[in-house]
Formats: sequence, C-alpha cells, structure tokens
Amino acid sequence: MEKREKNSIIRTEVLCKSFLVDGEVNNIIKNVDLDIYEGDFTVIMGSSGSGKSTLLYSLSGMDQVTTGKVILDGADITRMSERKMAGFRKEKIGFVFQGINLIPNLNVYENILSPTYKTGRNKKEIEKEIEDMLARFDMLNQKKKFPTQLSGGQRQRVAICRALINHPKILFADEPTGALNSSQGQHVLDVFSEIHKDGQSVVMVTHDLKAACRGTRILFLRDGRIDGELQLGEYHKEEEKEREERLYHFLQERGW
Ligand SMILES: Nc1ncnc2c1ncn2[C@@H]1O[C@H](COP(=O)(O)OP(=O)(O)O)[C@@H](O)[C@H]1O
Ligand SMILES: [Mg+2]
Repeated sequence: MEKREKNSIIRTEVLCKSFLVDGEVNNIIKNVDLDIYEGDFTVIMGSSGSGKSTLLYSLSGMDQVTTGKVILDGADITRMSERKMAGFRKEKIGFVFQGINLIPNLNVYENILSPTYKTGRNKKEIEKEIEDMLARFDMLNQKKKFPTQLSGGQRQRVAICRALINHPKILFADEPTGALNSSQGQHVLDVFSEIHKDGQSVVMVTHDLKAACRGTRILFLRDGRIDGELQLGEYHKEEEKEREERLYHFLQERGW
C-alpha cells in the first residue's frame, strides 16, 4: 500500500496547562508533544478527570495555555492577542459541546446562520449551504423550529451544522453524544463519520467506546500525558465489531 505523508495541522510543544486552586498550582496537562494530522478523525480518550476537556480547550485556542506552544494551521496561537485569537477561532475552528448550547430565541436556520455575521460572505451562498446541510442531515423540516421543539439528537445535529458553516479547518467536539440516548447518539455519530469521509479533520473527546470507534486514530490521556495511541484506519460500518474489539483491547491494556 502506498504510504502517504500526512500534514500536521496542530502541533504542540511541551504543552502545559495548570489551574490555580485555593492558592495551589494544579498541573493538569503535562509536557504534551503532539501532532494532530489533517484529514484524521482523532479521538481523545481517558478516564474522567484525566484532562481531556482541558487538552481540547488548549488545542483549539478556546483557553490559554500555561506554558509551551500550540501551532494551529501554521500559526502559533499561544502568542496571539485575544482579539486576533477570536478572529482566528471564527475562521479556523468549529466547536461542538456536550451540553447543547443553541441560542434559545433563534430558530434552527438562524442558529446555523449566526456565526456568519460579519464574515463578509455572500448571503445567497450561505442560504444554499444551510439548506443543503439541513437536507443532508435529515433536518429540512425543522428549519423554522426553535431549539426547545427539537429532540436532543436534532439539537446536536444543528450544533454541528452551526460549527461547520464557516468551513473550519478543524471541527472539535467534547463528548458530543454524552447527553444523548444511544439511538440519537448513533445518528449524531453518523453525521461525524459522513463529514469526516468528505475530508473534514475532526478532533473528538469521548469516553464512549461506540463513539470512539468512529475515529481513525485514538489517543489515550492519563493524568495529563499521552499514554499510547491506536491507529484504527477509516471507519466502515461492517467492521464495527472488530474495531470495537481492537479498541477495547487497547483500553484494557491501559487499565480502562
Ligand atoms: N477552570 C478550572 N479550574 C480549576 N480546575 C480545573 C478547571 N478545569 C478543569 N480543572 C481540573 O482539571 C482536571 C481535569 O479536568 P477535565 O479536563 O475537565 O477532565 P476530563 O475532561 O478528562 O474529565 C480536573 O481535576 C478538574 O477539576
Ligand atoms: Mg471533560
């Protein structure tokens, strides 16, 4: 098989993140040197409290790091002013959270539209894109509905559309199925698999085996350090069982 060099889209250098709690320094992310590759569906796993969310917030520029570097799409985001960072985030990244955070008084269409304000993009083009996305994810009938009129899974799919509307280089997701039942979760995971197949780079945190096995590369975080990785290759539904078994074995070896 031809070996293809992958582009590093995020690189960290001795990344550390600490919090000050009651006057004491609490080191959460410890000297992480990591590359995230373009086109990968990278999954970060690890037990609760291991620092997964903290790492994701550092990688995506949602939060400032304590020391070390994060190079995102060629730019050192640890040296950017807050103002420049805000613009950079809007252009380069999309973020999906566990808790659904749609704007309650905007309908589905308006929620997806909201990150495009002041981007100078063509209105007609955006409108068409939103229609296409809603149709693709089986949501066209919900276009005029408000968040409270949707199921949790539908709301999360809207959140994904909203995160994608500015064509981010990377889509980040923190436990995106964590608040959903299993069938709603599957539906949301299918959306992730589909956009990844189209070439979208994804970085997702999860502690759910079924969610994780959608990824092409699994990173295991333990106590703020990367403690092993597993290459799973591209996801195919027929191979789900084997993938889950490989992943389960990998996790068991790490005392999951
Ligand atoms: N803003 C914060 N202030 C203080 N401590 C924090 C903050 N955010 C996270 N932590 C601590 O960092 C550790 C890792 O948290 P987190 O990254 O949320 O873990 P995970 O997502 O793996 O469950 C926890 O002990 C948590 O209490
Ligand atoms: Mg978390």
